[in-house]
Amino acid sequence: MREVPKILAAAAVLLASAACAGKKPAAGASKASPGASAEPHAHAKLEPRSGSQVEGSADFVERDGKVTLTLSVSGLTPGEHAFHLHEKGDCSAPDATSAGGHWNPTAEGHGKWGTHPFHRGDVANLVADGSGHATLTFTTDLWSIGGDPTRDLVGHALVVHAKPDDFTTQPTGNAGGRVACGVIRK
Ligand code: CU
Ligand code: ZN
Repeated sequence: MREVPKILAAAAVLLASAACAGKKPAAGASKASPGASAEPHAHAKLEPRSGSQVEGSADFVERDGKVTLTLSVSGLTPGEHAFHLHEKGDCSAPDATSAGGHWNPTAEGHGKWGTHPFHRGDVANLVADGSGHATLTFTTDLWSIGGDPTRDLVGHALVVHAKPDDFTTQPTGNAGGRVACGVIRK
């Protein structure tokens, strides 16, 4: 757990201050720079599902027409794990099936990012180290925070799976159970 990153701490602070709703308390205003506050951002707090102890944090920031995802997950079994953006921003089910299928605004088949067909929620497999921790940074101009519904990731869910995505099996990648889920909120 010594590696649990600043991102988690930052997310906790944001949650504690209810800043995720978009309005920061006046007390914190002096810290924000004009440039940083102008960049659209969103995040998802990943909570355990399917009896796992997997948790984590996903942060999204949009800059110059590109969105960068910074993802940090702990409590995984070592090795590869699929994650996807799923259609419904609903993680309420104990097995996260409430999040529906993969986010697929362009009505393509499931696959591997960058090689059509692929869902806009098909990114890559996470690789967890021996302590069950995985991080990933990913940037794309096919996502946005707000705006065009074929690109806007807000209101969808980020789901981490028990197994790797094979990038072939339709429409799921045969990635197994859903071990963590978080709704992407502005
Ligand atoms: Cu998935
Ligand atoms: Zn997919």
